[in-house]
Amino acid sequence: MESLDHIRDEIQRLIRQAASLDALEQARIAILGRKGRITELMKGLGGLAPEARREFGAALNRLKGEAEEAIAHATRRLEDAALRQRLAQERVDVTLPVRAEPEGRVHPLSQTIDEIVAIFGEMGFSVAEGPDIEDDFHNFTALNIPPEHPARQEQDTFYLPEHQGGRKVLRTHTSPVQIRTMQKVKPPIRIIVPGRTFRSDHDATHSPMFHQVEGLVIDRVTHMGHLKGCLIEFCRAFFDIDDLPVRFRPSYFPFTEPSAEVDIGCSREGGGLRIGAGGDWLEILGSGMVHPKVLANCGIDPAEYQGFAFGMGIERIAMLKYGIPDLRAIYDNDLRWLRHYGFLPLDLPSMTGGLAR
Ligand code: DAH
Repeated sequence: MESLDHIRDEIQRLIRQAASLDALEQARIAILGRKGRITELMKGLGGLAPEARREFGAALNRLKGEAEEAIAHATRRLEDAALRQRLAQERVDVTLPVRAEPEGRVHPLSQTIDEIVAIFGEMGFSVAEGPDIEDDFHNFTALNIPPEHPARQEQDTFYLPEHQGGRKVLRTHTSPVQIRTMQKVKPPIRIIVPGRTFRSDHDATHSPMFHQVEGLVIDRVTHMGHLKGCLIEFCRAFFDIDDLPVRFRPSYFPFTEPSAEVDIGCSREGGGLRIGAGGDWLEILGSGMVHPKVLANCGIDPAEYQGFAFGMGIERIAMLKYGIPDLRAIYDNDLRWLRHYGFLPLDLPSMTGGLAR
């Protein structure tokens, strides 16, 4: 019993002296492990007379309990200390400058889409989406495109194999999302639809997959003046030229009446193209007042509602704005090209923060 007091002191000293969690674990093994101090003593109990065994056993159990408690206490103390030390070491200096040059680049098409969304977002438009694989009704019929229209022909449109009596198409424009939106929500409607489109065309200025952005506004009082104001505002904001000349040229689309193509002023003097300079015109989008038949096809009463729509190619305006000469390079995934034409991820376009470098 006397020597137990000794052992108790020795155990408590071992625990106290452990300066780290690792050292404490070593101490625990030396005390309570399979060959530890207390375990060894327990093994010796078998050789004692019953009376002494009971008394000594009880004392050993107390000793063991005290050791466990002391170890638990020391563990908490050392864990606290380790945490405090890490917090001190891993402190973040929020005043450090940002790292010079992030590795990745935002693709100019993504950047252009973000800019378009920022401009129209400011005017109260929201973004709508639709499927890339469309049916004939949404891609053509509901848009008042007649059965004999050239756009429906094999050489222009990718058709999927016949399935359950119908042939689906890869949508040839984003206009079917006009139909899907009008079928789903009641006016007032104010959406843009950036997305992929497909046509069987492939040369230096055409890709079988390309992008368009559609716009649709439907309300009781929407008129041609709104169409013009909205698109002039867009062109000037997008090209960042306050007095950019914008021209509305009469045109024809089956789904609008009247229809207008929109041109912006440019100059082609000296072989180069300068947007905003006088003299010449460059077509950039199609637009018009939504045809009454299209409204009726979607269950909207043309006597009560009217509105306008527009559609433009995203590659085309991206190439114009950022001086990208070759359409095909846009899809090549060449990192050298992306480093040259790409945008820093922190340059998020916004109407207040600026649209591009
Ligand atoms: N869908 C037309 C195309 O792909 C573009 C277009 C023209 C869309 C006039 C419109 C519009 O919404 O009003 O060529």
